[in-house]
Amino acid sequence: MKPVKWSNYLSAALAFVLVALFMVAPSPTYAEVDKSEEVEQGLRLVSPLLAERRVKDLRSHIQLMFESPHAVASDPRTPAGRADEFGGNFCAACHGDGFKHFFKVGEDVSASTVNDTCLNCHSGGDRMHWSGGPHEMGDMACVDCHSMHNKNERLLRTTTQLELCSSCHLERRADFNRPYHHPVKEGQMACTDCHNPHGTVTPTLLRGSDVNETCYNCHAEHRGPFLWDHEPVREACINCHNPHGSVNVNMLVSRPAQLCQSCHITDTSHPADVMDGSTAGAMGNFDAMQVGRGCVNCHSQVHGSNHPGGAFFRK
Ligand code: HEC
Ligand code: HEC
Ligand code: HEC
Ligand code: HEC
Ligand code: HEC
Ligand code: HEC
Ligand code: HEC
Ligand code: HEC
Ligand code: HEC
Repeated sequence: MKPVKWSNYLSAALAFVLVALFMVAPSPTYAEVDKSEEVEQGLRLVSPLLAERRVKDLRSHIQLMFESPHAVASDPRTPAGRADEFGGNFCAACHGDGFKHFFKVGEDVSASTVNDTCLNCHSGGDRMHWSGGPHEMGDMACVDCHSMHNKNERLLRTTTQLELCSSCHLERRADFNRPYHHPVKEGQMACTDCHNPHGTVTPTLLRGSDVNETCYNCHAEHRGPFLWDHEPVREACINCHNPHGSVNVNMLVSRPAQLCQSCHITDTSHPADVMDGSTAGAMGNFDAMQVGRGCVNCHSQVHGSNHPGGAFFRK
C-alpha cells in the first residue's frame, strides 16, 4: 500500500475527529477552550514529520493559534468565526481540508497557493497592489514575513521590522547604524512609515505617490509652495538626503560644501576650488564655505524661500 493513501485515510479520520471536537461546543471562543492536546495527538497521526517534534513544542505551537486574532470566534470574518464553512475545523481555512500542507513553501505548498489563501480574506487595503509588486514578483509569500502561530505585533516573524526587513536587505541595517538616521532602531519609526511592503504604485514601495510626497507626510513645512524654488528639492529630497542614514549631519549624502559643489562649481561667482574642508583656515573669507554648515552658512533657505529677495536662498 502506498504511504500516500494511508495518510489520506488518516487525514479523513483526523478531519472527522476535529469536526467532532469542534462541534461538541458550538461557537465557543476558541481561546478559552484548550483543545491543544487532542488536536496535537490527531495531528501526529497525519504528519509523520510532526511526530519528530517534542510534545511540548508542538502543543504550545498549536496553543498560540488559539490565542491569535484568527481564533476569535465572535468575529464572523476570522477563520474561527467562519468555522462552519470549513466543516467546523477552522484550521482548514489555512491548512486546507485534512491538513493538505504545513506551509513549507517550495516543499509542500507553492508561494502563490499560500498568497491566494491569505488574500481570500486580506485582499483590500494595503494589499491592493500586492499583485505585480516587487515582493510578489520576487516570488515571496506572506509567510516569509508573517507567522501565524505567533504573538508578535501584526503577526510578524520577528519582534522588530528592522530585523525582519534587513534579514534580506542587508545594506539597510548598515545605513540605520550610521550616526544620523531616522529613529527606526530607536523604535520611534518603522520601515512601514515610508514603505508599504505589500505593494504600492511606486517600484520602491513608497507610501506616497513619489519620494517627496512620502516625506511631506511628516515634513510638511518643506512642501511649499515657495516664491523661489530650488530645483533639486522639488525633484526629489533624495538628491541630498539618504533617508535611511548617513555619516553626515542631517542625513546628507555628502558634506555640505561638497554636496552643493557636486552641482554648482562653475555656475557661481564664488571661487571654483573644491571645498572639502581640507583647506579650511587657508582661504580667508572663504572659510565660511567649508566650516560649520558650509554653503548653508549663507544659503540658509536651501529648501526654498518665500522672501521677496530670496532668489539665492539666503533669506
Ligand atoms: C478566513 C479569513 C482569513 C484567512 C484565511 C486569513 N486571515 Fe488573517 N485575519 C483575518 C481576520 C478577520 C483578522 C482580524 C482582523 C482585525 O482584527 O482587523 C486577521 C488578522 C490577521 C493579521 C493581524 C492583523 C493585525 O491588525 O494585527 C495578520 C498579519 C493576518 N491576519 C495575516 C494573514 C495571513 C498571512 C494569512 C494567510 C496565512 C491569513 N491572515 C489568513 C482573516 C483571515
Ligand atoms: C516583506 C514583508 C511582508 C510580506 C511579504 C507581507 N507582509 Fe503583511 N505586513 C508586513 C509588515 C511589516 C506589516 C506591519 C505594517 C504596519 O504596521 O503598518 C504587515 C501588516 C499586515 C497586516 C495587518 C495590517 C493591515 O495592513 O491590515 C495584514 C492583514 C497583512 N500584513 C497581511 C499580509 C498578507 C495577506 C500578505 C501576503 C499576500 C502579506 N501580509 C505579506 C510585512 C509583510
Ligand atoms: C491563519 C492561518 C492559519 C490557521 C487558521 C492555522 N494555521 Fe497552522 N500554520 C499556519 C502557517 C502560516 C504555518 C507556518 C508556521 C507559522 O507561520 O507559524 C502553520 C504551521 C502549523 C504547524 C506547524 C508545522 C511545523 O512543522 O512547524 C502546525 C502543527 C499547525 N500549523 C497546526 C494548526 C492547527 C492545529 C490549527 C487549528 C487549530 C492551525 N494550524 C490553524 C497558518 C494557519
Ligand atoms: C525574504 C527576503 C525579504 C524580506 C524579509 C524583505 N524583502 Fe524587500 N525585497 C526582497 C526581494 C527579493 C525584492 C525584489 C527586488 C530585489 O531583487 O531586490 C525586494 C524588494 C524590496 C523593495 C524594492 C527594492 C528595489 O530595489 O526596487 C523595497 C523598498 C523593499 N523590498 C522593502 C522591504 C521592507 C520594508 C521589508 C520589511 C517589511 C522587506 N523588504 C522585507 C526580499 C525581501
Ligand atoms: C524616512 C523614510 C524611509 C524609511 C523610514 C525607510 N525608507 Fe527605505 N527608502 C526610502 C526612500 C525615499 C527610498 C528611495 C526610493 C526611490 O529611489 O524611489 C527608499 C528605498 C529603499 C529600498 C530600495 C532601494 C535601495 O536603496 O535598495 C529598500 C530595499 C528600502 N528602502 C528598504 C528599507 C528598509 C528595510 C527600511 C527599514 C529598516 C526602510 N527602507 C526605511 C525611504 C525610507
Ligand atoms: C513618519 C514620519 C516621517 C517621514 C515619512 C519622514 N520623516 Fe524625516 N524625520 C522624522 C523624524 C521623527 C525625525 C527625527 C527628528 C528628531 O530626531 O528630532 C526626522 C528627521 C529627518 C531629518 C534630519 C533632521 C535632524 O534633525 O537631524 C531629515 C533630513 C529628514 N528627516 C528627511 C526626510 C526625508 C528626505 C524624508 C522622505 C524620504 C523623510 N524625512 C520622511 C519623521 C519622518
Ligand atoms: C539641495 C540639497 C537638498 C535637498 C534636495 C533637500 N534638502 Fe533637506 N537639507 C539640506 C541641507 C543642506 C540641510 C541642512 C540645513 C542646515 O544645516 O540648516 C537640510 C536639512 C533638512 C532637514 C532638517 C532641518 C530642517 O530644515 O528641518 C529636514 C527635515 C530636511 N532637510 C528635509 C528635506 C525634505 C523633506 C526634502 C525634500 C522636499 C529635502 N530636505 C530636500 C539639503 C537639501
Ligand atoms: C542635484 C544638483 C544640485 C545640488 C546638490 C544643489 N543644487 Fe543648487 N541648484 C541646482 C539647480 C539645477 C538650480 C537652478 C539653476 C538655475 O536656475 O540656474 C540651483 C539653484 C541654486 C541657487 C540659485 C542660483 C541662481 O542663479 O538663481 C543657489 C543659491 C543654490 N542652488 C545653492 C545651492 C546650495 C547652497 C546647495 C547645497 C546645500 C545646492 N544648491 C545644491 C542644483 C543643485
Ligand atoms: C559667505 C557667504 C556665502 C557662502 C559661504 C556661500 N555663498 Fe553662494 N552666494 C553668496 C552671495 C552673497 C550670493 C549672491 C551673489 C550676488 O548677489 O550676485 C551667492 C550666490 C550664489 C549662487 C548664485 C550664482 C551666483 O554666484 O551669482 C550660487 C549657485 C551659490 N552662491 C552657491 C554657493 C555654494 C555652492 C556655496 C558653497 C560652496 C556657497 N554659495 C557659499 C554668499 C555665500
